[in-house]
Amino acid sequence: MNPPAGEPRPVVSGALVRAHAYVAFLGFVIPLGFALILAAKFVWPDFLGSVPWLQFGRIRVFHTNGVIYGWLSTAFLSILYYVIPKLAGRPLLSERLAWWTFWVWNLGLVLGLGAILAGQMQGIEYAEFPPLADVVFAAGFVMALVNLLGTIFASPEKQLYVSSWYFILGFAFTALNYVMANIVPTFLAPGAAGAAITGLWIHNAVGLWITPIGVGLVYFFLPVLLKRPIYSHALSLVGFWTLSFFYPLGGAHHFFFSPIPWWLQVLAVPLTVVLFAVVATVIYNWLATLKGEWKQVPGNMALRYLATGIIAYFATCTQGPFHTFFSVQKVIHFTDWVVAHAHLALLGAFTYFNLAAFTYIWPRVTGKEFYSKKLAESAYWMVTIGFYVFYFLPLTALGLVEGYLWMSPAPFAESVIQAIPFWFSRLIGGVLIYGGLCAFAYNCWMTHRAGARAPAAVLEEAEAAGVAI
Ligand code: HEM
Ligand code: HEM
Repeated sequence: MNPPAGEPRPVVSGALVRAHAYVAFLGFVIPLGFALILAAKFVWPDFLGSVPWLQFGRIRVFHTNGVIYGWLSTAFLSILYYVIPKLAGRPLLSERLAWWTFWVWNLGLVLGLGAILAGQMQGIEYAEFPPLADVVFAAGFVMALVNLLGTIFASPEKQLYVSSWYFILGFAFTALNYVMANIVPTFLAPGAAGAAITGLWIHNAVGLWITPIGVGLVYFFLPVLLKRPIYSHALSLVGFWTLSFFYPLGGAHHFFFSPIPWWLQVLAVPLTVVLFAVVATVIYNWLATLKGEWKQVPGNMALRYLATGIIAYFATCTQGPFHTFFSVQKVIHFTDWVVAHAHLALLGAFTYFNLAAFTYIWPRVTGKEFYSKKLAESAYWMVTIGFYVFYFLPLTALGLVEGYLWMSPAPFAESVIQAIPFWFSRLIGGVLIYGGLCAFAYNCWMTHRAGARAPAAVLEEAEAAGVAI
């Protein structure tokens, strides 16, 4: 809450960061629990089949919306409540508004995710919340926008650091994009035109919400963790402006081989491939910043998560333009290759960016040292091995198996039989990832409750930066 008039406000409210972080942790504990049931259903289709709210159609949507809004986006708010005041060099515009936002946002999440389990949803991918939940959730989003961007605009700093540019882009674009997704396909342009719009929405949700906020966070935490400036500010702005300009244009690539006009699908190819150049500037900048400093990576857990995420981001954005070519599309489209790609981006890259951020800020917003270094170490390896060895690689390979089988005269059922061992591997990977992420959350919780005092240097730094624990 804002202190009485006359008393200076702390720059960062630890309580606000922690409250959002705990909701974000629930945002993976619950939807990933459902993901395990989902993954089991691929291996044993009748598993829990008689329970209506555990049907595939409901829990798949619960999983995707749960991780995108409950985990990634709520974690973004938590981390931004730490990062934006520090970038702006001043407290949040209003801490009271931020607490109201917390309740409205969470009410939107509960209504939306609850409705999905109850089978009440609209048919727009990643925007399945029904209208009432949409309105509440969108209100929470706008409240966060006003507070966070308002803090940036009220900053005494004359120049905006590149992270702030990305945050402004992410919030401003998503406010418009969310309205477009929820109104245009249903009310103004049903049919194929509406389908094209939902493709644009999906594309922008990952590319102009998750991407700019996550990329902005890397631009903030990489120099902080390495204690050296970013390699090139000019290059960072090239990446920013080209993303803003080119990214929205390729949305039709989510609906290849669908009833949308063929010219639109063909045009989507060059407009997507050009994104590789955009991403290359960003990756080059990060790698050049890391140059000569890789030796720090193994011993620093936050940096380790960040570096692993950067490699995954590089892989995602190399894979993306490659699988856009029609020669590759005709093999991988509709296969598990795409599911692996989606997880490489959202789990391999952006979940790791968030874990890096939490690893860095948690001692600073609790004043405590991490409860267990062993648990932190196990969490990293469980998620990393679970994902790459048992999930990403097998599903990518499965995508090729499915694609080539579908082009052969073999019956479709053959591809399902061949897929079972790969899907079983995903289930094992899922258990490891789930265990690792729960260990991470438990470690943070126990740090707050029972961790030893953080080292004096960390406490002094937090105090000097105006963090109220
Ligand atoms: C330059 C980088 C990227 C390019 C060119 C690209 C391209 C694509 C293409 C063409 C598809 C559709 C594949 C198909 O259905 O056959 C796709 C799917 C997907 N991409 Fe990417 N991608 C890139 C980066 C990312 C990033 C950074 C994210 C997450 C933030 C992401 C998330 C997804 C998701 C979730 C899907 C699945 C969508 C669905 O099933 O409806 N991609 N991507
Ligand atoms: C325990 C770990 C996880 C497991 C076992 C898992 C499992 C699954 C399964 C079985 C599907 C349905 C695939 C299909 O319909 O063919 C799916 C889809 C999806 N999951 Fe996960 N998931 C996990 C973690 C995550 C995380 C952490 C995120 C994001 C942060 C995520 C985002 C998504 C998305 C966006 C899709 C839709 C992909 C598409 O349509 O192409 N998942 N997941």
